[in-house]
Amino acid sequence: MWGDMNQSSRLTICQISDIHCGSAYFIPDLLERSILEINDTDPKVVVVSGDLTDAGYRQEYETAAEYIAKIRCENVMVIPGNHDSRNVGYIHFERLFGERYSVIEFDEAIMVGVDSSEPDLNDGRVGREHYDFIHESFAGAGDRLKIFVVHHHLIPIPGTGRERNIIFDAGDVLELLADTDVDLVLSGHKHVPYSWKLEDMFIVNAGTASTTRLRGNTRPCYNVIEVENERVRVFRKYPFKQREMVIDFDSATHSYVHFEEVQGDGRPGDRRQRRILSGEQ
Ligand SMILES: [Fe+2]
Ligand SMILES: [Fe+2]
Repeated sequence: MWGDMNQSSRLTICQISDIHCGSAYFIPDLLERSILEINDTDPKVVVVSGDLTDAGYRQEYETAAEYIAKIRCENVMVIPGNHDSRNVGYIHFERLFGERYSVIEFDEAIMVGVDSSEPDLNDGRVGREHYDFIHESFAGAGDRLKIFVVHHHLIPIPGTGRERNIIFDAGDVLELLADTDVDLVLSGHKHVPYSWKLEDMFIVNAGTASTTRLRGNTRPCYNVIEVENERVRVFRKYPFKQREMVIDFDSATHSYVHFEEVQGDGRPGDRRQRRILSGEQ
């Protein structure tokens, strides 16, 4: 459908989330392997979307920074999660990773990352005072892909039990992002990988890459996004194991194919069933 593409025109963006260094559930092998695999993709950008630590402590941050330093990539976007803002952890965040709000721009995309954490709370918010920053950062994007990065989820994720910690101002943020023609939202927090399509946006929640803080039958994983001209493909990659394509869309025409696993929480039957949706504009 898209014809033969020149290999060199493809770029890769990796998203790793909820690595939780210092947690009793942290598995170093999973993080080391994930970083090796990510480096092998020769990524243009690597996103680390929050919950680097367990409780925001200095030594946990330093461990996280040592791992992140092993990522071989010129653009690494790191944002904090709720665990990182415990115990005044944002002090260490800023010392080791810089600004909690950041923008990465290149020929093919603009990526805007924000801090949705609140000191010592698990809840998330973006906050009206940051809406102008988001809107203006994307304003000059033109035809480039627009990617928004935030730790907490903007939309409920199935298979996660009782809903909580969704971004307080999720409705306003979703409207802002849709109105700004954002193509892709990358988030984490729930430790359950899932993706939704809303308007012309795909909202992609990452799992935890390197912990056994898992819900139900989910497994540690991270996201790999391949961009080739207007074609964007999102893969869920399991460290040491296979990858699965979840989304394949054309950012110009908005035609798409979307594969998602039915979580089937509380329902009988095959929980590994895949739901496939597609659409043309
Ligand atoms: Fe987390
Ligand atoms: Fe979190």
